Amino acid sequence: MNQDEMKKAAAEAALEYVESGMVVGIGTGSTANHFIDLLAGMKGKIDGTVASSEASAERLKGHGIRVMDLNSAGQLSLYVDGADESNRHLHLIKGGGGALTREKIVAGASDKFVCIADGSKLVDVLGTFPLPIEVIPMARSLVAREMVKLGGQPVLREGFTTDNGNIILDVHNLQIMEPEKMETAINQIPGVVTVGIFAHRGADVLILGTPDGVNKIEA
Ligand code: 5RP
Repeated sequence: MNQDEMKKAAAEAALEYVESGMVVGIGTGSTANHFIDLLAGMKGKIDGTVASSEASAERLKGHGIRVMDLNSAGQLSLYVDGADESNRHLHLIKGGGGALTREKIVAGASDKFVCIADGSKLVDVLGTFPLPIEVIPMARSLVAREMVKLGGQPVLREGFTTDNGNIILDVHNLQIMEPEKMETAINQIPGVVTVGIFAHRGADVLILGTPDGVNKIEA
């Protein structure tokens, strides 16, 4: 099984969390795309979806799946999304696709967050994957200096603008030993819109596609 097949297997296993009449929160990225494509096969069962990015909204609409505004949908029962890294406490790094702000909003509005990934995303300590931070453009160098003080090496994601009109700094060389504390500390820096650590609201279930089948870890 290659990495993409493992992502698809994880996405398939997440379908069991979808119940009749639900409005489902939908993440962003290649694993979430598998989930969207599989959800199309049962679109008559759900009431609709809330997308965490313009890209996912377009893909959902392409399948004829209803996409709703979060403000009209209210609290969601289920959010399904991928991740760039997860530890065993289901604290995550997200934002490799740059959709972290809307992902954090939809995750925060959902009762259950089912994270789907291939097995390579499970790590002991978060931070090998460069930590994405969405930043208001005028705060770029301030946030970068503050991240250097926290031990990281920030790199501007060149040629990339988020769905919210902001920039992304990818911060290398962090060893995130205390994800909740680090999330709080970075959130305090003026100009930070969202940090890609999802620890205060991590996943509730992690479904990992592996060469030996699908593994599930529950928080
Ligand atoms: C997008 C994300 C994605 O969930 C993350 O980058 C994983 O992507 P993929 O499923 O393509 O490996 O956080 O902002």
